[in-house]
Amino acid sequence: MTRVSKVVMLGATRGMGRALARLFAERGAELCLLGRNHDELARSAADLRTLGSPLVAVTACDLEEPAGFVAALDEADRALGGFDAVVVTAGLFATQAALEDDAALTQRLLTVDFANTVLFCEEARRRLLARGGGTLCVFSSVAGERGRKPVVLYGAAKAGLTHYLEGLDHKFRSAGLRVVCIKPGFVRTGMTDGLPEPPFAGEPEDVARRVLVGIDRGEPVVYAPGAWRFVMAAVRSLPRAVMRRVKF
Ligand SMILES: NC(=O)c1ccc[n+]([C@@H]2O[C@H](COP(=O)([O-])OP(=O)(O)OC[C@H]3O[C@@H](n4cnc5c(N)ncnc54)[C@H](OP(=O)(O)O)[C@@H]3O)[C@@H](O)[C@H]2O)c1
Repeated sequence: MTRVSKVVMLGATRGMGRALARLFAERGAELCLLGRNHDELARSAADLRTLGSPLVAVTACDLEEPAGFVAALDEADRALGGFDAVVVTAGLFATQAALEDDAALTQRLLTVDFANTVLFCEEARRRLLARGGGTLCVFSSVAGERGRKPVVLYGAAKAGLTHYLEGLDHKFRSAGLRVVCIKPGFVRTGMTDGLPEPPFAGEPEDVARRVLVGIDRGEPVVYAPGAWRFVMAAVRSLPRAVMRRVKF
């Protein structure tokens, strides 16, 4: 078990990232929140201080602006006096229908959820390894487990991200880098607001509690809510002929 104590979080102003940041704060971790909306960052930081975090810094970082990643992580490093964990919950979602009709939105989503997330993780990885290791926890998705009709494009970006995280884990675990890939199922957040709800939908607070255990244990893959591990095992086993017929 490793209890991380200085955590950089990208995407903790809302949803699952926010719920996880609150758990870190309650157990006294020092935090640096990275994000694109200064007012939201300031509001979140104030909340986390009241929950018990002795230090909450905020730094500008937009996942659509990779040129800013180095400066953001340098700033986080200065603010925290070094960090032992980086958590990425920032991400972009759009429905398959919206993406099929909008090439610019598709480019944006593929860039944010895959290419730029990987570029951010590469900067984080270099810094963690330079100080002998640490934890890199990144939210991918069960959408990346199998090519599926409702998430052809979003799922492809998340599949690439999952693949990258697995490779990182294989390559750098022995050097002290603990890569934790989170695969949420359907979770009730702003991202899923208005979408039809499948069975086994979860709450961000429950997911955050499971993710924290995964981070402490350094689990390479965490499904949350846990039932999705079994749902996806079943989906992975379905023949293509069946996948072409079903709607999910
Ligand atoms: N909810 C689900 O059912 C579900 C299922 C599977 C996977 N996931 C994945 O889990 C992660 C968290 O999802 P969530 O539902 O908690 O999302 P959410 O409630 O929509 O929160 C997303 C967070 O990402 C930040 N963000 C978005 N675009 C950004 C950008 N360009 N630069 C910096 N920050 C940015 C948002 O900050 P702002 O305040 O600036 O917008 C917000 O803090 C995402 O990667 C998502 O793809 C979610």
